[in-house]
Amino acid sequence: MAEAFQQRVMGLFESSGTVMGLALGGDLGLFKAMADLNRPFTSEELARATSCKERYIREWLGFMACSDIVGYDTESEKFFVEKEKLSCLSGILPLSVGVVSVIGQRQPLLRECFKLGGPDGIDQNVSNDFGKWLGNVRGGSFEQALESRILGEVPNMKEKLESGITMADVGCGTGLMALMIAERFPNSTVWALDVSEELLNLGRQGAKKKNLQNVHFEYADAHNFSEKWAAKLDYIFCYDVIHDLPFPRVALEQIYKSLKDGGVFSMLEPNVHSSLKDNLEHRHSADTYFFSLYFCLPHSLSVPGGDGWGRTMGEERGGQFVREAGFKDFKVYHDDMNHFVCYK
Ligand SMILES: C[S@@+](CC[C@H](N)C(=O)[O-])C[C@H]1O[C@@H](n2cnc3c(N)ncnc32)[C@H](O)[C@@H]1O
Repeated sequence: MAEAFQQRVMGLFESSGTVMGLALGGDLGLFKAMADLNRPFTSEELARATSCKERYIREWLGFMACSDIVGYDTESEKFFVEKEKLSCLSGILPLSVGVVSVIGQRQPLLRECFKLGGPDGIDQNVSNDFGKWLGNVRGGSFEQALESRILGEVPNMKEKLESGITMADVGCGTGLMALMIAERFPNSTVWALDVSEELLNLGRQGAKKKNLQNVHFEYADAHNFSEKWAAKLDYIFCYDVIHDLPFPRVALEQIYKSLKDGGVFSMLEPNVHSSLKDNLEHRHSADTYFFSLYFCLPHSLSVPGGDGWGRTMGEERGGQFVREAGFKDFKVYHDDMNHFVCYK
């Protein structure tokens, strides 16, 4: 048993090395360049195509070949990637695993949080690298969330957005979803709210690029909305945010207050339960605890007295909190993210 465990841990170590290599390749555009080359290639050719140094490329390619990510033909001494791997590697995969670089920078900060006498948590604005990373990897999942979740699970929302309503994306990050909705539904007005000026600025740039006049990026703390929102909004959308907050119940009360009577609130939260015993066999659990430990929990503890739920706030507590905030009528739809559709 000890030997099997040791082998498992060594396997994890090797895999984590490969993940770092994949992330590096994604960051440097090496996989994309392989797809563009579209034929077997030498390290010199890949170096030339990516404006990188050949010696580093050669070492990286050796690493990727020994990790069975790219192939190496010993006769021609050229590297190649099978077609079926290429779409994976030149797409979202290396970007997704790129989170390990962000994690690496966070490790020393997190280590200090563990210690008695160390900081309580990590403020969102200490590093927005995670927010920027999310902005890069969300594309596909947000298109899907718009189509199947918002337009599919919220009754008549498509018609309402088409005819023109006022909505807010609370904790919008780089504003991907807000921009998508604003572009698709020009009669509606979208307020994209966040506490990170850096992320809001990226959203503003996106709006400028697309020449969108109906989306407004504005600083707003979900715990303390300005009175100007009171009973003003028809729809509020909140993706992967509430569990991050130091005081989710306060934010949910603010959201309730900001909706018009008959307004709708979409809260998307990770599909996990609130207790560890129910999560042990759950397919997303390890991922959820991983992101929670490094990002969500330290953020939710970054304010003195913060509740500190983190990403494992879970479905049961989520339901309890929206009910306590005033939403007596809500329905939960399950997928990778749970969608609480709540009616005021
Ligand atoms: C995990 S990210 C999700 C971003 C975006 N909704 C997405 O899914 O890509 C959480 C976001 O909540 C924002 N946030 C954190 N605390 C906040 C607060 N008190 N009020 C509003 N937004 C907050 C962060 O800046 C971050 O952009």
